[in-house]
Amino acid sequence: MLDIQVNLAAQRKPLPDPDTLQFGKVFTDHMFLMNYDAGQGWHDPRVVPYGPLSMEPSCMVFHYAQEIFEGLKAYRTPEGKVQLFRPVENARRLNSSCQRLCIPEIPEEDFVQAVKALVKVDEAWVPNKLGTSLYIRPFVIATDCSLGVHASHSYLFAIICCPVGAYYPEGINPVKIYVESEDVRAVKGGTGYTKCGGNYAASIRAGERAEAQGYSQVLWLDGVHRKYIEEVGAMNVLFKVSGKVITPQLTGSVLPGITRKSCLELLKDWGIPVEERLITAQELFDAAKAGTLEEAWGTGTAAVVSPIGLLAWEDQKVEVSGGQIGTLTQKLYDTLTGIQWGTMPDTHGWVVPVEYSSKRTLHTVCSVLFHKAPLCKGSCQPSG
Ligand code: PLP
Ligand code: COI
Repeated sequence: MLDIQVNLAAQRKPLPDPDTLQFGKVFTDHMFLMNYDAGQGWHDPRVVPYGPLSMEPSCMVFHYAQEIFEGLKAYRTPEGKVQLFRPVENARRLNSSCQRLCIPEIPEEDFVQAVKALVKVDEAWVPNKLGTSLYIRPFVIATDCSLGVHASHSYLFAIICCPVGAYYPEGINPVKIYVESEDVRAVKGGTGYTKCGGNYAASIRAGERAEAQGYSQVLWLDGVHRKYIEEVGAMNVLFKVSGKVITPQLTGSVLPGITRKSCLELLKDWGIPVEERLITAQELFDAAKAGTLEEAWGTGTAAVVSPIGLLAWEDQKVEVSGGQIGTLTQKLYDTLTGIQWGTMPDTHGWVVPVEYSSKRTLHTVCSVLFHKAPLCKGSCQPSG
């Protein structure tokens, strides 16, 4: 268990209007930091005021992108409680990314404790309007000041948070997706299955081109044959064809999405057949032309469940579900968000309440709420 030191911000920023929240523009009052040094391991876990990080220009992350990140959310229930969605899955995926990028792993329970501690301190920032949430961005960067290409000996693990609305301006309305035939995002043996910044850097050019043509994001094809569908820029992708759900199998170049996994588990509960397999763009466009492509949607923490209303590939364009959200897509959206926002039963045990994780945190919260005259009257004051 981490002994997290808390240093509260002297000044609090005004909370944003929940009606006009965008994605990732406004950050909360605090951040979590923890350092790693070879020989010492992870040390000095702390919640401190949100602010600039001081690093030398020679810091390895600036040059060789030895960096990984995660994305999860905290939700406000109708009773006003705050809960996380499957945070242990994010801890596991972070460590899978760590292994690939030669970054020291963070124990799962420490990851979850750190997330909870920060969210608890910034609890007031978890918005309560339906469709909004607190997006949590943990990340690890290499901090050695050295230009040699090798694994860093020191790292910084940080977590920042931002209250968010919908990822796409379309909200739950269908998005237009462009099948990218020129650039590739990842190949087997590379880093496609990890959440490392480099994957996203490689994706920006195609994303910008697609956006300029009026598309929300690109649908990536595999990097070898350039014919198998992989995933969308910030989402996994699922299709309903002739009553069956099909989705690309996790081949090593696709991010194993937690929302994807949750949707597959829900579909299994509902007895809907699912195939995880190779899917060519040709198969998809043939199905669309034959009228058997019934629905298409993306899944992701930021994007939730996002219907796809139009797919474009080279000179072909096909509309899906008449450009409307499909029935199954809607059911998945309603069920998943119902569980996340605490309005539907969590039969899988996916949600994790944010509780007072330590005496220190309880004391901190008391101090914040009661202006240094804590309810606990100091009884939860940490001794050390
Ligand atoms: N694929 C990519 C490339 C992503 O960036 C994301 C978002 O995290 C996903 C898929 C979906 O993953 P998850 O559902 O875990 O958020
Ligand atoms: C997420 O959904 O958590 C993501 O990481 C998507 C992000 C690239 C905006």
